[in-house]
Amino acid sequence: MGLFDGMLPDSESLFNNEIALDYDFMPKLIPYRDQEQFQIAACIRPLFQQRNGSNCLVYGNPGVGKTVATKNVIREIEEQADDIIPIYVNCWSANSTYKIILEICEALNYKLTMNKNTVELMRIVVEKLNAKGVSSVLIFDEIDKASDLDFLYIILEKVYRKSIILITNYKKDVLTMDERIKSRLVPQTIEFKPYDTNEIAGILKQRRDYAFIPGVWDEDAFQKAVAKTAELEDVRKGLYLLREAGNSAEQKSVKKINMEHVDAAMQKLDSFSNITGLDGDDEKVLELIKNNSQSKIGDLFKMYQKMGGKSSYRTFQRKIDKLERAKLINVEHTKGGEQGNTKILSYSKKLTDY
Ligand SMILES: Nc1ncnc2c1ncn2[C@@H]1O[C@H](COP(=O)(O)OP(=O)(O)OP(=O)(O)O)[C@@H](O)[C@H]1O
Ligand SMILES: [Mg+2]
Repeated sequence: MGLFDGMLPDSESLFNNEIALDYDFMPKLIPYRDQEQFQIAACIRPLFQQRNGSNCLVYGNPGVGKTVATKNVIREIEEQADDIIPIYVNCWSANSTYKIILEICEALNYKLTMNKNTVELMRIVVEKLNAKGVSSVLIFDEIDKASDLDFLYIILEKVYRKSIILITNYKKDVLTMDERIKSRLVPQTIEFKPYDTNEIAGILKQRRDYAFIPGVWDEDAFQKAVAKTAELEDVRKGLYLLREAGNSAEQKSVKKINMEHVDAAMQKLDSFSNITGLDGDDEKVLELIKNNSQSKIGDLFKMYQKMGGKSSYRTFQRKIDKLERAKLINVEHTKGGEQGNTKILSYSKKLTDY
């Protein structure tokens, strides 16, 4: 049936280096974040003089360059200092103290982790980080996804020369931390504001020029992708649009990427919210949780009613289950303690990662 007929041969692909559109690709230059990178570097600078560094909390919406800018700072440390060890952990993939410690062991090239428990591994990590002449920069990205913060407490308490960088979407995450951690952490906060249209255009142009054969993009079509990305304030979505527009043009075996292909990519992006099968009321509940992340289910129900929501509490709960199944929200069950038995609902921006 010729499923693959009419495809552009490899030599005629519109993509030159598609990897450059991957979300974790590290461009050589990270423009428009000089100020923020300087602020991060300032926290680390004392380590270069064998003094203790300070800590910072990097926060901002998804896709505004927090991870890439912080990784760029690490890249510079690696180039400039042998005795400062940078350790990067993503707490979304390693979300418990044990898993985080394992990641740190790996970063320290310590392999004998089998059959050792968290306490033993922690002791080894602390010993290595306190070795003579050594200091460390510990980055915990997506810190809001860590299920416990014991690792943070131990590092704050036991490691002498360090800088801790926490990255999250919400500044208030640090406020909900245990007092013992907060009083030791006292981080400087560094906000990553959304990019403006010119900045989005600059970033996407850089990635386009890495990823595509020169000249395959119609300029108006590219500008449309830029405008949509600026509206959504998320560079990751722009990278998605560039890739999908490229794929769409290749599927049609044409050699230029035009408006039609960007439209197709935009439709794919929009249809994303539809595939989860949400109705209008579900969307309203989702929006409510997004704007009041980390609230108790009972409080959210009251807000929902105030907004004119008509569903009963049972139906509301069913909506919550649906949003959780679609991984649009996180539901944390708390037992006892200050909050009593309840569910804490928070918005899960990760789904926008496709
Ligand atoms: N100033 C920039 N220069 C080059 N690329 C950038 C810049 N800002 C963002 N990007 C690119 O945009 C994408 C998203 O950036 P990044 O992963 O750093 O977002 P983030 O703020 O960490 O988002 P999240 O909160 O979802 O983790 C990445 O592919 C990154 O390379
Ligand atoms: Mg990130």
